[in-house]
Amino acid sequence: MCAGDLPGAERSSDVVFLDSDRRGRRVGEPEPEPRSDEGVKRWIDRMRYFLEVDPDGCWVAADEDRIVGFAISQNRDRLWYLATYGVLPGQQGKGIGKRLLDAVLAHADGRQGMFSSSVHPGATRRYRLAGFSLHPQMRMVGTVDRSRLPVVTGLAEGVADDFDWMDRLDQEIRGAGHGADHQYLLNNHRLVVSRGAGYVYIDDRGRPILLAAADRRTAADLLWEALASAQADTLVNCITTANEWAVDVGLAAGLDLGQEGYLAVRGMPTPAPYLASGQFL
Ligand SMILES: CC(C)(COP(=O)(O)OP(=O)(O)OC[C@H]1O[C@@H](n2cnc3c(N)ncnc32)[C@H](O)[C@@H]1OP(=O)(O)O)[C@@H](O)C(=O)NCCC(=O)NCCS
Repeated sequence: MCAGDLPGAERSSDVVFLDSDRRGRRVGEPEPEPRSDEGVKRWIDRMRYFLEVDPDGCWVAADEDRIVGFAISQNRDRLWYLATYGVLPGQQGKGIGKRLLDAVLAHADGRQGMFSSSVHPGATRRYRLAGFSLHPQMRMVGTVDRSRLPVVTGLAEGVADDFDWMDRLDQEIRGAGHGADHQYLLNNHRLVVSRGAGYVYIDDRGRPILLAAADRRTAADLLWEALASAQADTLVNCITTANEWAVDVGLAAGLDLGQEGYLAVRGMPTPAPYLASGQFL
């Protein structure tokens, strides 16, 4: 993949995930929408970042005039992660996805690996055949009952000076620091820390998008802080059974429990106390 492929890869990715969201839509869920202009910009910006930091982990499949498939992965220290992966609906099931996954796994070079997997049968088939364990993920959705918010103390706004201990915590929990990803995340999100003991990035809708902590108590405090800033219809996702503390907080906040996809790992346990980010893991 090169920078010139970014707009084409974005178009393909929107078609792939709109199709897959439509097929996977459950009763009562809203009709999936194409990516907004802002979403397009964010996607290209994020993938450009991945391409700059670790270009050899980014691959596309192309025919004469369009990008047919993409697999964007990154190595950070001894961890490999897959940020996104897809093949256009009309081209699936012909082996293109296997070739893309083979290319990014060659780049992983035997590293331990982690990513958030969809339930698409082609995807789960590819991942298990590549040796990944698929751990079901839960998610909490709904509107936070603000009358149940506890008083949380000891938290502060995070800054770049926090990255050193955050990386050490990442290493303990997931085997590798986020490295440069922390700066990218801080540029785009609010960071709240329990200094030395845990952190959470919170997006502009008040959703926690990555949380790591040394213990469950700190993790719960950080999640409560995120829920306190949540707007209507919040979402806490990527919850594995090793992270039931998050289910307990979500239930106490009046959210509903649901199930969504898998956390795929190889060569490592599912991290805890930890809520992975869908694309930075
Ligand atoms: C996952 C994905 C990238 C795989 O690409 P692909 O080109 O279809 O992959 P391949 O053809 O190499 O392999 C897919 C395997 O699953 C099977 N498969 C593909 N689509 C399937 C379907 N809808 N139902 C059942 N099996 C399916 C294929 O037969 C193949 O198995 P085989 O190699 O044993 O014959 C593609 O299916 C996709 O884009 N899915 C939607 C988006 C998605 O979920 N992405 C993953 C996000 S984590």
